[in-house]
Amino acid sequence: MEVIITQDYDAMSERGAQIVIDALRNRPDIVLGLATGSTPEGIYERLVAAHRNDGLDFSQAVTFNLDEYVGLGPDHDQSYRSFMNAKLFNHVNVDVARTHVPDGLAVDPAAHCAQYERMIRQAGGIDLQVLGIGRDGHIAFNEPGTSLGSRTHVACLTRQTVEDNARFFDDAAQVPRFAITMGIGTILEARTCLLLACGANKAPAVRAALEGPITSMTTASALQLHPDTTAIVDEAAAAELELLDYYRWQQENRLA
Ligand code: GLP
Repeated sequence: MEVIITQDYDAMSERGAQIVIDALRNRPDIVLGLATGSTPEGIYERLVAAHRNDGLDFSQAVTFNLDEYVGLGPDHDQSYRSFMNAKLFNHVNVDVARTHVPDGLAVDPAAHCAQYERMIRQAGGIDLQVLGIGRDGHIAFNEPGTSLGSRTHVACLTRQTVEDNARFFDDAAQVPRFAITMGIGTILEARTCLLLACGANKAPAVRAALEGPITSMTTASALQLHPDTTAIVDEAAAAELELLDYYRWQQENRLA
């Protein structure tokens, strides 16, 4: 795994956005895996700016989001569909029909999960998957204890995740308890992964994910098995990394 330490959130967003922009320019019909949460917002802002100012073209891109709350429809202001529309899709020239977010209102969620997997396969698989990380080391909504071979499934959120995400709702009681999420097995099939983390409250999760044992107790640790993952971590989130000096040394000594 390549680990890039940046000074702060803005620098993390800048590096992350550049990777996505380069990938999209190299392959206009790219299949992008997208994430929600506060962490990737800076990247989406930069993608919108690149579209407006430099003509970054999304017209042929296909997107698949990691997850969606069960029970929230696209019109709910806290649904992940509505987040993606507001932060990215409404401001670039992506074809909405090519953007996919699991359907939180699916009548048969299990069938919908299987169909989501099929759609990803039919699109040719995900080229670049953007990921944030939860304080308990989850990626997407793969909470501790989730099989590292899991596919898209309905997940029960932990109490901690519900509390963490309550800041977006009027109160914790309104946070859905379930979500449809890509599984760890699904995520590991993406050709390239980009893990983003910022802030001191993510430092233990980052340490466990990047340097801890590969375990379902920290589902992000499965990325250690992925052959092409880049983690971009700001200094606060990197503070507990044992190999911090080595990651910096590697950054200074890149092969041309
Ligand atoms: C949610 C999302 C994750 C995200 C995590 C962290 O649980 N399902 O995809 O990585 O929150 O969010 P934030 O970036 O706001 O810290």
